[in-house]
Amino acid sequence: MSPVAQRPDVAHPATYGAGVPHVEFARMRREAPVSWVPEPALWRRGGGGRMLSQGSGFWAATSHEAVVAASRQPELFSSGRKGAFLPDPRTSADLEQARQLLVNMDAPQHSRIRRLVTSVFTPRAVRELHDSVAAHAHELVRRAVRLEECDVVADLAAELPLLVLADLLGLPREDRHLLYRWSNNLVGFDDPEYGGGDVEAYRTTFVEAFQYALTVAGERRRSPRDDLMTLLATSEVDGRRLTDREFCSFWLLLVVAGNETTRHLISGGVSALLAEPAQRDRLAGDMSLLPTATEELLRWVTPIMQFRRTATEDTELCGQAVAEGDKVVLWYVSANRDGAVFADPDVLRLDRNPNPHLSFGMGPHFCLGAHLARLEAQAMLRELVPHLARFEVTGPVVRLESNFVNGLKSLPGRFNPDRAAGPDGAWSSC
Ligand code: HEM
Repeated sequence: MSPVAQRPDVAHPATYGAGVPHVEFARMRREAPVSWVPEPALWRRGGGGRMLSQGSGFWAATSHEAVVAASRQPELFSSGRKGAFLPDPRTSADLEQARQLLVNMDAPQHSRIRRLVTSVFTPRAVRELHDSVAAHAHELVRRAVRLEECDVVADLAAELPLLVLADLLGLPREDRHLLYRWSNNLVGFDDPEYGGGDVEAYRTTFVEAFQYALTVAGERRRSPRDDLMTLLATSEVDGRRLTDREFCSFWLLLVVAGNETTRHLISGGVSALLAEPAQRDRLAGDMSLLPTATEELLRWVTPIMQFRRTATEDTELCGQAVAEGDKVVLWYVSANRDGAVFADPDVLRLDRNPNPHLSFGMGPHFCLGAHLARLEAQAMLRELVPHLARFEVTGPVVRLESNFVNGLKSLPGRFNPDRAAGPDGAWSSC
């Protein structure tokens, strides 16, 4: 086999089961920061059988400069034209449906809909959540360190964002397991254990989730409360309420974006700290590093690895001609390791500052939940890091097969009381 044939396919979801192909991305940045990537044919299930699905291929923007340049020109690199997700919409009806989702909109509709909820995610509004988020993190870690065996993903990383979302949306906390299942099915569409590439199951998840949301919306319209569900169900844009489909789409976007991402930041961050004991101990000994450490873990993990754009006219990106209608994929995960911007990009430095990572994207679609995600990650690390020196991994660390999120499905282990504590790792304090 030639060396070329052995290169990992950055477009194939299964590639990521073995980890992010950073070496391949480094080669792509070096050779051509915007390069053409053919897409593999992928098996899908649906309509009672199996079918092959073949994407159009795309321009991969892999350098920091290329990702920034495309993100800053949303009129040339559109989110609405074909949506912001790598797979092409299969039919025009699918595209119309996808366009109900904020990430798949362009201006001016995008700004009108986004404005509906910005007040909930401002730094000031998020600061008010500080105590409740800290209390959740404290309780989760207190319980996990006492367990015989725990899973960092299920017991800690997934739980915190789900609890915070349930509070924010005003949903019963026990319903967070529904949110977990729905978002696993949707984001884990390509993973054999979750979505399994099953188009029917994907659709059924939407139906179930939308039915749930509409029931709650009806209740909130009858008896409004001080929660995000009420805000979404009762707000008006251009003098009218959101349609059912607009409401459900926005709701589901918040549910998925608000839990998957932060979950993967926390579990990926813990995994990185376990792999780098010196960095772990440094943080445990000096928690004032928490803000820069969080940014560095965001860069390191890059929980959302890419989003897609479509060229609206013949143009160029970093010198590469791009034709109208071409798919352009912004590989944040590669831009975040670009040596032209980050010194020693493959070294985890918890005090890195400045840290212009692109993990929350850039431009009009910049992550709405960035402040909340930072608050949650810091709350969890503050509680967990003092105990990490005692953590022993007891089983296989299982990665999600996805070319979209950089995720762990499982990180099993236990907090061993017999192990020497790191600085500040007072076992008796929990
Ligand atoms: C570590 C955690 C997170 C990461 C890495 C992340 C990443 C991103 C990225 C890269 C985008 C840009 C989409 C694009 O350019 O097309 C985005 C958008 C978005 N994020 Fe996040 N996100 C995180 C947490 C959250 C949370 C906690 C929420 C809400 C509770 C949230 C809600 C959203 C929404 C609604 C958008 C769409 C914004 C728009 O299209 O205008 N995210 N996020």
